[in-house]
Amino acid sequence: MKLTYYGHSTCHLEIGSTNIIFDPFIRGNEKASHIDISTIKADYILLSHGHNDHIMDAIPIANQNESTIITNFEIHSWYKNKFEYPKTHPLEQGGSWKFDFGKVKCVNAIHSSSLPDGSDGGNPVGFVLDTPEGNFYFAGDTALTMDMKLIPMFTKLDFAMLPIGDNFTMGIEEAVIAAQFIECKKIVGIHYDTFGYIEIDKEQARQSFADKGIELLLPAIGESITL
Ligand code: NI
Ligand code: MN
Repeated sequence: MKLTYYGHSTCHLEIGSTNIIFDPFIRGNEKASHIDISTIKADYILLSHGHNDHIMDAIPIANQNESTIITNFEIHSWYKNKFEYPKTHPLEQGGSWKFDFGKVKCVNAIHSSSLPDGSDGGNPVGFVLDTPEGNFYFAGDTALTMDMKLIPMFTKLDFAMLPIGDNFTMGIEEAVIAAQFIECKKIVGIHYDTFGYIEIDKEQARQSFADKGIELLLPAIGESITL
């Protein structure tokens, strides 16, 4: 499958003929100013929590594609009630649903989740996707948690998107342990370098993962990689 990185935690996946995007935050990211969101295709938009740096571009991308938004119950209700957006699917931790491109399981994340207008954004989550083209985990914003050890009991992962920027989420040291907990050797780093609090040394980050036999991929903003 093809992964295109749009900066911060925004990852676009092409799984067969299905386009999905995680946590779209592009217009608010100065480093992604060369990306034109009107060109982004998305049959599904998955939102890990309510913070603006994860949902800012969900409505424009949803409107232009008639996407289905998959998120927790509170954020699903917010899109239904506040935006009258009709195509949403609520999913909560522990729950799975089979979509046309594969199965999505909602898993724990340790973080917060208020919405931009102060509404309750429910609990932050991550997603594990089981598809004919491969299995992967999108961790959202989270601390390292023992709950990650549950993931490989159910799904053999081909790759995972983990936050590595520290301050708001786990940093590199913890993300290396997270990769070991989820038994995954190929990690795409997210939630780093967007603003001052989360700047990282990329070479050092790659080396920290490599020391444990894990590959850390850090595609440029707008770059596509095949996984
Ligand atoms: Ni957040
Ligand atoms: Mn965030």
